[in-house]
Amino acid sequence: MNKFFFFLVSVGFLTGVISNAAIYKGQKEYVKQCTKCHESGQVFIAERKIKDYKKLMKKKGALLAELHLKNKDAQKSWKYFKSTKYTKKTKHLAQFLIEYAKDSGNVPACN
Ligand code: HEC
Repeated sequence: MNKFFFFLVSVGFLTGVISNAAIYKGQKEYVKQCTKCHESGQVFIAERKIKDYKKLMKKKGALLAELHLKNKDAQKSWKYFKSTKYTKKTKHLAQFLIEYAKDSGNVPACN
């Protein structure tokens, strides 16, 4: 009983920590994977709305991946978008994109 209670508390605590860290993780991933083509990240992200990102990042980012896989100019990103590295990070990426979308009112910190 006590063990179970402790388990619940830890899960709750960890979930809170993880969701805060997700935006940061998403930003790191964006800088690493996306800025080689979408140079000015801030400006680029703020061009679209929360709604657009939600759509693009649905089903583990299927639409965003498809969009890049269909575009020859994005060929250098194909390996990444097809990899599990991408599908594993889409949740974080989505949170980051949504956080800094046009209608979010937030501006990413410079780095
Ligand atoms: C190898 C280059 C390349 C990489 C890497 C890349 N993109 Fe793109 N991306 C493109 C091209 C090319 C387009 C389509 C042309 C355009 O609209 O600018 C595009 C379009 C987009 C769009 C516009 C979709 C729309 O609404 O039309 C979004 C959003 C986007 N990329 C996000 C990302 C994210 C997030 C990453 C990192 C996970 C990423 N891109 C990585 C080349 C790239």
